Amino acid sequence: MAEAAEFDFVVVGAGIAGLRAAIELADAGRVLVLTKEALGESNTSYAQGGIAVAMSGAEDVALHLEDTVAAGDGLVDREAARVLVEEGPLRVEELLAWDTRFDRENGELLRTLEGAHSRHRVLHANGDATGAEIGRALLAHAEAHARVTLREWTLTTDLLMDGDEAVGVVMMDRDGRQTQVRARAVLLASGGAGQVYSDTTNPAVATGDGIAMAARAGARIADMEFYQFHPTALSLPGVARFLLSEALRGEGAVLRNAAGEQFMERYHALKELAPRDVVARAITREGMGERGEARPVYLDMRHVTGVDLAARFPGISAFLTQHGLALGRDLIPVRPAAHYLMGGVRTDVDGRTSLRRLYAAGEVACTGVHGANRLASNSLLEGLVFGARAARAMRDEAALRAGEGRVPQGGVMPGISRADLQQTMWQKAGLLRDAAGLREAQALLEQGGEARAEASREALELRNLWEVARLIVAPALAREESRGAHFRNDFPERRDAEFQKHSDVVNGVVRF
Ligand code: SIN
Repeated sequence: MAEAAEFDFVVVGAGIAGLRAAIELADAGRVLVLTKEALGESNTSYAQGGIAVAMSGAEDVALHLEDTVAAGDGLVDREAARVLVEEGPLRVEELLAWDTRFDRENGELLRTLEGAHSRHRVLHANGDATGAEIGRALLAHAEAHARVTLREWTLTTDLLMDGDEAVGVVMMDRDGRQTQVRARAVLLASGGAGQVYSDTTNPAVATGDGIAMAARAGARIADMEFYQFHPTALSLPGVARFLLSEALRGEGAVLRNAAGEQFMERYHALKELAPRDVVARAITREGMGERGEARPVYLDMRHVTGVDLAARFPGISAFLTQHGLALGRDLIPVRPAAHYLMGGVRTDVDGRTSLRRLYAAGEVACTGVHGANRLASNSLLEGLVFGARAARAMRDEAALRAGEGRVPQGGVMPGISRADLQQTMWQKAGLLRDAAGLREAQALLEQGGEARAEASREALELRNLWEVARLIVAPALAREESRGAHFRNDFPERRDAEFQKHSDVVNGVVRF
């Protein structure tokens, strides 16, 4: 391994949480931000619909809190949600001051509606490219800071630990050269793990690296059974599972089954704008014929008038055009895809994990703010609010003592291919689960691990996906109820007395 480098703070990930944190940390010391591909390649950049924020005073904020709690199906940590909705407006004002160009009409910010929101409160940018615009503004701000060093194409392979204290990370460049970086505090802001499923809206970089690293180091990992499936990803054979924003339904899109029937009223009073987990399951059920054969389900905007759909949704329209489809003209085939992980590295509202000097913020973290089902467009806000808070807490960490850091455990490589892992997770631990399928998945994941050190990005990502898959399956099997995004065919009801609790996995053991 190449010689060690030293910074005050290391931030793993350059999405919204990582960049917002880096800006806050730069006042207190030298910050190294690591990202494994080019800057801008993160889940943040693909966020379409917008950022939910209540900017019209106390009543508005209180309603945002109630919507967040209701969508989370009995498992939202109310304190985390209160922090999110109360600090959200300040963080968004800051974004505006940093030249984030949200869409406006006559100078006024435009706000759209999404599922389970009681008000129009979702700001958007460039129509359907909100995350990319926020990322652009944050990156420009971070890059202007002399104490922020941004390193692209650098994979963080592991935490460097001294007992239960994180003292840095090991990073690997494109040529496979590894370097230890020591720091006063480490922030995991490495995003989600959609690649654990064969069908996902997430980019290829979303391989759960931060969660796997933290788990190997012995951190508490919480609520991993709650993976959110976005109801409407494009469903065309051979075409990537492109996200079709919930904002389409906010602007009037309806869902139709193969018979042309508008079916959502059979599932929820809010119909197309029901909470995301309800809509995703409804589409799955409507998309299954009597003998289990796949049947199409469509998003329909042909009746929507008074909105220039190509102008309101330019990115989506351009993608559809490549495949001969248009929003206002055609039925658009959809089915759910893995989208957002509510669980992750357990933190308090200041990003503190169960390990000293290790912090986490954004999708990699689990504050409990989303409970069992995240309210649409709360994730960009989460990255901003908790990225800034984690950074403020990290600034108080004292300088490191001299001493050795070590990598937590040897290189056990999984005995399953990436494609088999993704298919297994989709089929056995996806939207609809049961004990038999989850046990099958568990058996497949447990077999044939091999102790060997392998240092290619591909192998290290597979190891991380495998860790994450096991962290999902174990609590999914233990949680014998259905709640939010976790639906058990064999336990279809919510069972509050036994399970209105967060799950925790530490060193492979599940606790509620
Ligand atoms: C969307 O635009 O539907 C995605 C927004 C989100 O995941 O909150």
